[in-house]
Amino acid sequence: MSKKYPGRHGVQANDGIDLHILEGQVVGLLGHNGAGKTTLVNQVVGLVRPDAGSIRLAGVDAVADPDGARRLASIQAQANVPITGLTPRAAIQIVGRIRGGRRHDVATRTQGLIDALDIAGSADMPSQKISGGIARLTAFCMTAVVPGRLVVLDESTNDVDPVRRRLLWDAIRTLADDGAAVLLVTHNVREAERVVDHLVILDQGTVIAADTPAGLAASTRGVLTVELDLGPASGTDLGWPRSVTETTHDRLRAAGTVPAESAADVVRWAQSRVEMGVVERYALTAASLEDVYVRLVGAGRAPVATDADPVVAA
Ligand SMILES: Nc1ncnc2c1ncn2[C@@H]1O[C@H](COP(=O)(O)OP(=O)(O)O)[C@@H](O)[C@H]1O
Ligand SMILES: [Mg+2]
Repeated sequence: MSKKYPGRHGVQANDGIDLHILEGQVVGLLGHNGAGKTTLVNQVVGLVRPDAGSIRLAGVDAVADPDGARRLASIQAQANVPITGLTPRAAIQIVGRIRGGRRHDVATRTQGLIDALDIAGSADMPSQKISGGIARLTAFCMTAVVPGRLVVLDESTNDVDPVRRRLLWDAIRTLADDGAAVLLVTHNVREAERVVDHLVILDQGTVIAADTPAGLAASTRGVLTVELDLGPASGTDLGWPRSVTETTHDRLRAAGTVPAESAADVVRWAQSRVEMGVVERYALTAASLEDVYVRLVGAGRAPVATDADPVVAA
């Protein structure tokens, strides 16, 4: 499907997107700011109408029946919903009741989420006293308390501290393990890698890659990354060996891509730079998914892979 925002400088926010999510799956949606991620998730839950194409949620046509789509989905928007005058616990329970949960079940489920995310210390504070991270976690709980068959999370992990972010990733995985289809927008490739079943990379409104984390990482087999911490004697020219490509260089660090067969040469070269005082430390590691992402988004278009029997088809 596609979407162009109206106006004189109308932005083609996305174009020809083909995306499928199955029950029990977490699909991670990655992309730079402005790539079209929020437009896409809003289309899926019936908040933004595509100009062309179709979106189906468990058999419901989200374009013809956006109310039906919203009933099937629960969404954590990128912007937090204000909960002024409420405590996090009260806000979570109100949403649970609105979404049709029974009072006792909602209270139990709310407590379970509060414990899972380790926010009991803030759960009964007035909302104006809670931190941005707790507000973000509260918004997640409001989405997860009575989850839809599709759960859409737009940058849930933003502003959350590293310890609770780990708990949040576990809670996201649990939502899928309990049967929801989860569509998750994130910038954090490294953390998403451990939790998602599929990654979809958006760039300028089109899908440039879609695969499992392992499938995407396979494209890096035989490719290493060299990282250098530069010493005080570092000039601008490191004299990279010819086998090192895609080099980056700033005041403190430099990095490049190394074919595995050149590893020994590059280590010898790096060692010589240490002896010259140009480099303080070097490391040669297997290229990460983050490296793949940067390479893909930096480079051109790649073919798109898809799945069968989706809960969501867009
Ligand atoms: N309501 C809107 N009206 C006009 N342009 C918009 C609107 N919302 C988003 N855009 C534009 O569409 C593109 C995609 O935005 P968005 O979907 O928010 O990207 P992301 O969530 O990946 O950062 C951007 O160029 C953005 O400026
Ligand atoms: Mg966004």
